[in-house]
Amino acid sequence: MATFTSSPAWQALLTHRDALAGKRLAQLWRDDPARGAALTFDCAGIAVDFSKQRITAETIGLLVALARSRGVPAAIEKLFTGAIVNTAENRPALHPALRGDEQVVVDGEDIRPSIRRNRERMRSFSDAVRDGLWKGATGERFTHVLAIGIGGSSLGPRLAIEALRADADGPEVRFVANIDAAEFDDAITGLDPRRTLVIIASKTFTTQETMVNALAAREWLIAALGEEAIAKHVIAATANVEASTNWGLPECNVFDFAEGVGGRYSVWSAVGLPTAIAIGMNRFEQLMSGAHAADLEFRSDPLDHNAAVLLGLIGVWNRNALGIATHAMLPYASRLERLVSYLQQLEMESNGKRVAADGTALDFSTEPVIWGGVGTPGQHAFHQWLHQGTDAASCDFIVVAQPMGATKVHHEILISHACAQSEALMTGVASGSAHKDCPGDRVTTTLVLPRLDAYHLGALLAIYEHKVYVEATVWGINAFDQFGVELGKNIANQVLPAVRGAGVELHPATRHLLDVIRKQREAV
Ligand code: F6P
Repeated sequence: MATFTSSPAWQALLTHRDALAGKRLAQLWRDDPARGAALTFDCAGIAVDFSKQRITAETIGLLVALARSRGVPAAIEKLFTGAIVNTAENRPALHPALRGDEQVVVDGEDIRPSIRRNRERMRSFSDAVRDGLWKGATGERFTHVLAIGIGGSSLGPRLAIEALRADADGPEVRFVANIDAAEFDDAITGLDPRRTLVIIASKTFTTQETMVNALAAREWLIAALGEEAIAKHVIAATANVEASTNWGLPECNVFDFAEGVGGRYSVWSAVGLPTAIAIGMNRFEQLMSGAHAADLEFRSDPLDHNAAVLLGLIGVWNRNALGIATHAMLPYASRLERLVSYLQQLEMESNGKRVAADGTALDFSTEPVIWGGVGTPGQHAFHQWLHQGTDAASCDFIVVAQPMGATKVHHEILISHACAQSEALMTGVASGSAHKDCPGDRVTTTLVLPRLDAYHLGALLAIYEHKVYVEATVWGINAFDQFGVELGKNIANQVLPAVRGAGVELHPATRHLLDVIRKQREAV
């Protein structure tokens, strides 16, 4: 497939960009005071306001023409019907199927019954833990869950539990992701093994960090409770059932999911078990319902009114027409702090690619750097760079309309800052002093959730999943593989024996760095 940059639809967009170039965002607002309503779209109850983007109704028309020329409508259908979209690994992407009830056929089999079965197992198990019916080896009910996993096997549940903290009325969940003993030690500090359930989440059940942490948890449990306790205290969420039973778990302790569910798309699968235990399966189902509502709209809304599609198309416009290389995620909700790292993985691991799905090299830029932080603390830190740095970032503000705490005054001020920041980034200021001038004209989108609940969190995550897919489709890349992460893992396997003192052959730069580390260790 030819790249999108050579298409007439893209050339028309570049001509349009040049025509808009002389106009500042503030001028676009003066030209069309009704652009706020015209450029705000709803998806599953979330309002997505694009009115501070460098776009007009004409831009949307041209972007939609681009989407059509790149086969976005057909790609959306493929996503929802179990077609192979992960061509490198010959797999479908089944995360929408996990939260939907539409028929999806994979290898000639309707996968709905197995998805329903898995969800029912999650319900009965999470209910049993929450109700104290599934007990520890000494008959105590579980008060804590130690959730072990990394990347997509950690970020989603962690985000969901933190975001929905107000509804987290089950056992307290602590997370261990890093291969840093301090993280493990911190997580178990104050925990009573008799009352701790360990959940190992790993799609592959081979990830080094997770398997070493799982072993540490196992030893911690056995030291306190003996080998027999494992069957009561350790649960796995994985697509590799065999590896988890070989590890020593009875099959009934294993909650599986399909290979077609990617790690960064797995919060809806058994990987969500810690979430279901923390907030209850009914609320977990609400998370699914919100995502499903966003799926339905993504699948059926006309492209020019389709919030998720437009989020993706405007991402392409900002990256490739306006040349913006970095994108800040700015949730104005403390409980959404983890959203930044969640979206960082979702976007950068999916679309941080330099070749097309067919392996040909790309001659244009793809995924921008995703970073950010919660407002308002970010305003007292990196927003300076957003307002006056030499490079321009695009930003997504994520705002919650209903107060998230008891005191009204906090929320009023929070909202005032969220609105003020996007206005300031748009208008800038010419103060007469070079040090105080802000250039403005920085593009932003604001997503407004009516409230921070499971339903709208689910919808929000699904909207971003679809944004990523739309961008990947226009760019012609495979959003569902991540081969780039392998090289470092392989080199680490070669370096580890040297760290342990073996005389193995190493790159001189790595040998040098190990020497520096050794000397520093001996210096104290
Ligand atoms: O290293 C990348 C990665 O494979 C991610 O895609 C994934 O979310 C994470 O590691 C964890 O993988 P697993 O769930 O197989 O342990």
